[in-house]
Amino acid sequence: MSDPIFILHQGLLREAPGSDATTLRALTLSGVSGPARIADMGCGPGAATMVTLRALPEAQVIAVDHHAPYLDTLEHRAHAAGLARRLQTRVADMRAPGFANGTLDLILCEGAMYFMGIEAGLRAWRPLLAQGGRAVFSEVVWIKRTVPEEARLFWMEYPEMTNRDGVRRRVEAAGWRVIDDFVQPKEDWEVYLGPLGARADALRPEADETLRGVLDGARQEVELFERHSDAYAYAVFVVEPA
Ligand SMILES: C[S@@+](CC[C@H](N)C(=O)[O-])C[C@H]1O[C@@H](n2cnc3c(N)ncnc32)[C@H](O)[C@@H]1O
Repeated sequence: MSDPIFILHQGLLREAPGSDATTLRALTLSGVSGPARIADMGCGPGAATMVTLRALPEAQVIAVDHHAPYLDTLEHRAHAAGLARRLQTRVADMRAPGFANGTLDLILCEGAMYFMGIEAGLRAWRPLLAQGGRAVFSEVVWIKRTVPEEARLFWMEYPEMTNRDGVRRRVEAAGWRVIDDFVQPKEDWEVYLGPLGARADALRPEADETLRGVLDGARQEVELFERHSDAYAYAVFVVEPA
């Protein structure tokens, strides 16, 4: 594993702002229950997958990611928790994850929709849903009308970033409707950025120049949030085909 990004992220159990409480709230709003078939797209090391397996004791979860080591981590976590029987992992591109049409009751996607774009993602996933199926995704959004310059410059790496209304419009443009949405609490960032910052600091003394560049980026992300957490947030959207 020589990619400096993966060196930084190795061992982290959450790869985006989130929390068990937020996933639980989203699952409740989605109305999913019983022996549902649920895909966790861009699952990473599986924080949301684990919450889902625990919260829905009859559900099957298929966790999809194109980075196989994350899925190994998730499998270990599920085995250790006695939940592996209802988990499948799939190394795949979530843009074409290989599910038969009409076979998923819920698609979860925490902090990974931006890799596909909201409209493209929802259009690609719509055929996969069974009758009455829904999707839940989280997305970084502006929550302040006037964006501080420093935050705007940092987030230029994601030029599509918009506010909650902007996300709602994209959902509708894709032929879906928003059932509910909420801004995630600030603590969800701390759950993610705390371990990320600590790992970056621990790696720094031995880091070569390339890795140092990646560690600097992580430190910048942590410090930006400390200064401008009133300007942007993650938000969860619970959606269904219109
Ligand atoms: C920001 S992380 C979020 C991970 C996880 N959902 C969480 O909240 O901890 C995004 C994840 O999406 C995965 N990913 C990105 N593009 C992907 C693609 N096209 N197909 C499958 N996985 C992808 C990455 O490997 C990574 O695990």
